[in-house]
Amino acid sequence: MKIKKAVIPAAGLGTRVLPASKSCPKEMLNIVDKPAIQYIVEEAVKSGIEDILIITNRGKGVIEDHFDRSPELEERLLASGKQAMYDEVVAISKLANINFVRQKETKGLGHAIMCAESFVGNEPFAVLYGDDVIMGEDPVCGQLCRAYEKYGKGVVGIKEVSMEAIQKYSSMKTQHIEGNLYGISDMIEKPKPEEVFSLFSILGRCVLPPQIFEILRNTKPGAGNEIQLTDAMKQLAVTEGMIGVDFVGTRYDMGNKLGILKATVETALNHKEVGDDFREYLKSLKL
Ligand code: UTP
Repeated sequence: MKIKKAVIPAAGLGTRVLPASKSCPKEMLNIVDKPAIQYIVEEAVKSGIEDILIITNRGKGVIEDHFDRSPELEERLLASGKQAMYDEVVAISKLANINFVRQKETKGLGHAIMCAESFVGNEPFAVLYGDDVIMGEDPVCGQLCRAYEKYGKGVVGIKEVSMEAIQKYSSMKTQHIEGNLYGISDMIEKPKPEEVFSLFSILGRCVLPPQIFEILRNTKPGAGNEIQLTDAMKQLAVTEGMIGVDFVGTRYDMGNKLGILKATVETALNHKEVGDDFREYLKSLKL
């Protein structure tokens, strides 16, 4: 079954990137000349997704504005002959069929996903975490959708991380299947060192069957007293098994300050307009 719907949770408080995220959602923080969430929407579209639901909350209306038309700005660009920029600005509003819903209380990623139930209906859907930008030739969301289509099971994007990092993320119990694909039979959110299954952690992307909503309804608050998506996916992994894709792509965590800097520097170095000058500038710093 082709995956056509995607959910982008973007209703977190972003406390790790304060004060930048006090009035500007972290998902709207810039990577050179585009907000992080635009890279994520573009990845979903390149993966064949047609309908997107972005989960927002109070104070994040600027995300809706970004994907809307902007008549005054467009008129000014046309009048001053800036056709290329006009085309780029209009294209943002036509990227996909983008919908919005508000998570009324910040009760965790699992709770945010529950807000997508009526949008998703009874079909599998992709989840792209709103603060994880992943760059690469082959969009990672598409890599996961292909695995779902092949195995008919929930899929998570995984990568090996350090022992220190895994305690802040999640840890997967894996069995190698083929190539970069793994069977997942258990998982744990924010494990203590003695609870770590492997150094494979979920990073930013998954494809889930609609049964996840029933599981989420019965999932009690976990780490941080939030309803954790990992706790619900654990149920799926234990009962039906899930697939892990050790994806190909470079992931930037826009939820922390160093991640934002890495995304900015690496994207700037490869940027058509400013890349060469930026490289010269960095060299001139004689670090
Ligand atoms: P994070 O845990 O990284 O986001 O959630 P956070 O809560 O904003 O982080 P800090 O710790 O306060 O800095 C991963 C994704 O889930 C969304 C976030 O917006 C992010 O994209 N999220 C998290 C929600 O949509 N709702 C929530 O209640 C929590």
